[in-house]
Amino acid sequence: MTLAAETFDELREIAARYPQARSGLLPMLHLVQSVEGRVTPEGIQACADVLGLTPAEVSGVATFYTMYKRHPVGTHHVGVCTNTLCAVMGGDEIFACLREKLEVGNDETTADGAITLEHIECNAACDYAPVVMVNWEFFDNQTPESASQLVDDLREGREVVASRGARITSWREAERVLAGFEDGLVDEGPAAGPESLVGLELARERGWAAPVHAHGSADVTEEMPEAVEEADTRRAESETIAEEASDD
Ligand code: FES
Repeated sequence: MTLAAETFDELREIAARYPQARSGLLPMLHLVQSVEGRVTPEGIQACADVLGLTPAEVSGVATFYTMYKRHPVGTHHVGVCTNTLCAVMGGDEIFACLREKLEVGNDETTADGAITLEHIECNAACDYAPVVMVNWEFFDNQTPESASQLVDDLREGREVVASRGARITSWREAERVLAGFEDGLVDEGPAAGPESLVGLELARERGWAAPVHAHGSADVTEEMPEAVEEADTRRAESETIAEEASDD
């Protein structure tokens, strides 16, 4: 498949966003995936041509990061976190359930091309473990039953909305967003869930604040001056103790 002139224009548009054009390689590879459904040899050559790199250099990047796929991805990419916390909270059971239900192995696509299943590493959503990602949108606190219903809904084309994000489109459309071309859905869904904000609320209740460094945070110093003073005093005390210990 030959890439369209429009795709080359968009690749150049991405490269032009950066002071060093090669900094655009990662989003450019996402754009290739949005068009081709994977990182193809043609896509690698196109990125190399636009950036003045060799295909080997582009290929080295595309094969390093797991978000870049060398074989076709289905309409939806379903990632089940099986990293430590999610695994013990049920991620392993979810992955086993979906693997059996979809009759695919890891990083394989269903016969109808609808779902690519992959076990993924921690997505920094451990407070909602176990999590499932659909096209990199979060589905929190999943169970084998809810994940099974989720893939049924995706396959049937029913509307699916992420726990903390937008309604689900498709993997290719999500790849286009990762390339930096917005789809207008960025403001859908909550920005953060309550579990992620517990620490912040506790800190506010108890007047906790991070120590202020030379480049300091004006907001913190203005909102909680006593806490900042106390934190600075404690830091100074611990530095004195450390100095005395090293003198001994
Ligand atoms: S272990 Fe699953 S999101 Fe962190």
